[in-house]
Amino acid sequence: MADLSVKVAGVDFKNPVIVASGTFGYGREYEELFPLSVLGGISTKGTTGQRRTGNPSPRIAETPSGILNSVGLQNPGIDYFIVNELPYLKTKNTTIVANIAGSTPEECAEVAAKLDATDVDMIELNISCPNVKQGGAAFGTSCQGAAGVTKIVRAATKKPLMVKLSPNVTNIVEIAKAVEAEGADALSLINTLLGMRIDIKTRRPILKNNVGGLSGPCVFPVAVRMVWQVANAVGIDVVGMGGIATAEDAIEMMMAGAKAVQIGTILFNNPYAAVEIVDGMNRWCDENNIKSISEISGTVEKW
Ligand SMILES: Cc1cc2nc3c(=O)[nH]c(=O)nc-3n(C[C@H](O)[C@H](O)[C@H](O)COP(=O)(O)O)c2cc1C
Repeated sequence: MADLSVKVAGVDFKNPVIVASGTFGYGREYEELFPLSVLGGISTKGTTGQRRTGNPSPRIAETPSGILNSVGLQNPGIDYFIVNELPYLKTKNTTIVANIAGSTPEECAEVAAKLDATDVDMIELNISCPNVKQGGAAFGTSCQGAAGVTKIVRAATKKPLMVKLSPNVTNIVEIAKAVEAEGADALSLINTLLGMRIDIKTRRPILKNNVGGLSGPCVFPVAVRMVWQVANAVGIDVVGMGGIATAEDAIEMMMAGAKAVQIGTILFNNPYAAVEIVDGMNRWCDENNIKSISEISGTVEKW
């Protein structure tokens, strides 16, 4: 049995497999299927300052090898999370990453400050949501916006801070560097890619929100490329996600430069996928004489 444990920004994960925000809720439904303690970590559903009901339906459209979603940030709000969900999650013997978001940098900072007083292990700041103060453009699509929100959230919390990058940008490396410069402890990527589907009978978009975020196996090569570019450009740890479906995908993502991975959309196909990926990584290490999984991070050699 190889040592599967990894560290991200000094935070311990018993294995590199973290379930991705928005695809695992707060874990309660999955716990009926397997003990959550087999997971390296759980990134919880994006939580905002106040309760939100999300976008109107339909908000999921299928697409070859993936889905397009416009769920929006449906969540019960940070106060509810801290009182009703976090204590339950903290009994599950896995690392808990609180994914947070807001309509303004100030809202993100307020949520982070509330988490500072809890025993959550890490904060993951989603910067792909629209900034209402800047005409609705996502914070994460400009260096200035990404740096600005990181700076104010950094000042609001002493918890390890991982900033989750948007792939909907021209140059992800510039954004990653801007976020690193403002004190992020780690980066995670990728969030969903902006997409659209149209019902040709009604000539209307399938999603009520018109557009949505693409995820699942179809985005995997884009994610590997971005993780590789970012991991080679920054000095902080990187967590890779986007389309991972198998242990081999997870290993590929780590070779690209990720210290750990997140598993999202594939859970809708197979709710046991994250558990199977942990087992598969273990087997792969044994077959390849790898003593510690962390050895493989960033080992891809460029042609
Ligand atoms: C239905 C759904 C809801 C999501 N909600 C969130 C969220 O609340 N916060 C966040 O940072 N990412 C959210 N994501 C993005 C995922 O965490 C992940 O970054 C993305 O889906 C790519 O990984 P995957 O292809 O393995 O799903 C959501 C994705 C899906 C499919």
